Amino acid sequence: MRHHSLPRPAVVHNGIIENYQELREELARAGCVFASDTDTEVLAHLIGLGLAGHGDLGRAVASALSRAEGSYAVAVVSLDNPGVVYGARKLSPLVLGVGQGENFLASDIPAFLPYTREVVFLEDGEMARIDAGSWQVFTVAGLAPVEKKPVRIAWDIQAAQKGGFKHFMLKEIFEQPRVIADCLAGRVDASRGLATLRELDDFPVPERLTIVACGTSYHSGLWGMQLLESWAKIPTRVEIASEFRYRDPILGPGDVALAISQSGETADTLAGMRLARERGAKVIGLCNVVGSTVSRDADRVIYTQAGPEISVASTKAMCSQLTLLLLLALHFGHKKGLAGEREAAVPLAGLQDLPALLEAALPGMRQRAKELARVYSEARSFLYLGRGLNYPLALEGALKLKEISYIHAEGYAAGEMKHGPIALVDPKFPTFALAPDDELYPKVKSNLQEVQARGGKIIALTNPGMDLRVDHVWEAPRAFGPLNTFLMLPALQLFAYEMADYLGKDVDQPRNLAKSVTVE
Ligand code: F6R
Repeated sequence: MRHHSLPRPAVVHNGIIENYQELREELARAGCVFASDTDTEVLAHLIGLGLAGHGDLGRAVASALSRAEGSYAVAVVSLDNPGVVYGARKLSPLVLGVGQGENFLASDIPAFLPYTREVVFLEDGEMARIDAGSWQVFTVAGLAPVEKKPVRIAWDIQAAQKGGFKHFMLKEIFEQPRVIADCLAGRVDASRGLATLRELDDFPVPERLTIVACGTSYHSGLWGMQLLESWAKIPTRVEIASEFRYRDPILGPGDVALAISQSGETADTLAGMRLARERGAKVIGLCNVVGSTVSRDADRVIYTQAGPEISVASTKAMCSQLTLLLLLALHFGHKKGLAGEREAAVPLAGLQDLPALLEAALPGMRQRAKELARVYSEARSFLYLGRGLNYPLALEGALKLKEISYIHAEGYAAGEMKHGPIALVDPKFPTFALAPDDELYPKVKSNLQEVQARGGKIIALTNPGMDLRVDHVWEAPRAFGPLNTFLMLPALQLFAYEMADYLGKDVDQPRNLAKSVTVE
């Protein structure tokens, strides 16, 4: 039997085909022999059977996809006609890049940014056919043509290259002064004490706000909640999207959900948005990737404009999220007549000075991070402590360290230590403390004394002139109130970066992690 005469489609697949077992059994009964246990192979056989029947790859892809349940972004090619690629998506991102004499399918824009900036965003239920010189979009159901226009992306190629830095993560940490400046551009009138988010011009002030996000974006939400409550007096809760989506949350027409997502494609965050909408809430999306699913599914979208974030570990995206959350708190506060001109003028003026302050501080911060990474590189476990606005930062510092250096780390509210974790402290379990000069400083200081009394070593990130006696004091420049966060955050990122780099880890592509978590 000439096996190679059978049609041989090749499939690239992101996502999960949930009913693959059922399909696999059916295909096995039809004589298909499987070489792996993957759901992707099931899709390949399903397409192959269709192709063997009528010889039309497009029809075969569409009919296979109409049977697949779950999420997918697929690209399919057949050996009989290798110049033609079909692509389709459902709950998983897929974009089409339109080049000169070449076309592309990818799950993320930066993949083809060196070749083209013309992008066609595909929707669920759509299918694209590309060859070198042409592209068309059809519906999966019925193969009816769909009218699409390419969008020109403003990101440039340099933005998606390392630009002389050893890693994307380092480059992105050093981009943060520019990111803050870009977020503020056109949104701040410091002389009138006004933050204007035009995206929300005619959007009513929420009665209650539910922030839904994952990972680093969730930490941004925890930070933003504190300003939204104290400056805009909006009752705010922050939800881990994967938990929220399976709860029975109380939401109604006065509620607004704020979905925070760098990629705009995180499956749990998208599901959280849908749930909030089903319960009658309006949805604002705060995201970085233009045209992403969050931006398309939200009632209003605020773009963070941080440029492409390539490193898996999120850095500059968090900085941009924090900047916009601060502006959001001032914006809503102003609309409610709360953040008067005098009160808003101080943070706004401080914000405008931040890029230069941070730019000047970053090289010294990196040097300090490098020194400390060498001292602490043998630690097996780290505790990060903070209170108030620095509690989410403690969570973020721990997340950064564990995801890229694979050293266990736990972020904790400093005042919660005495309720259990303090039992862990010994000379081999160091603490990274966030202790800036704020109203909670005396409390943090006394928490640190408790750690020292148990022989724990401490790095304390603080401001110049504070009276801390710990193993390693790390001084960051002083800024106004919550703006200190923008100087603490890069120090945490750089410490994790230098630890991981010193330990020889793959900083930009840590094991087991993906940049966009498009499956649940
Ligand atoms: C951590 C990190 C992840 C993401 C999370 C959410 O460095 O990158 O924790 O923050 O997967 O991703 P987005 O913001 O794209 O929804």
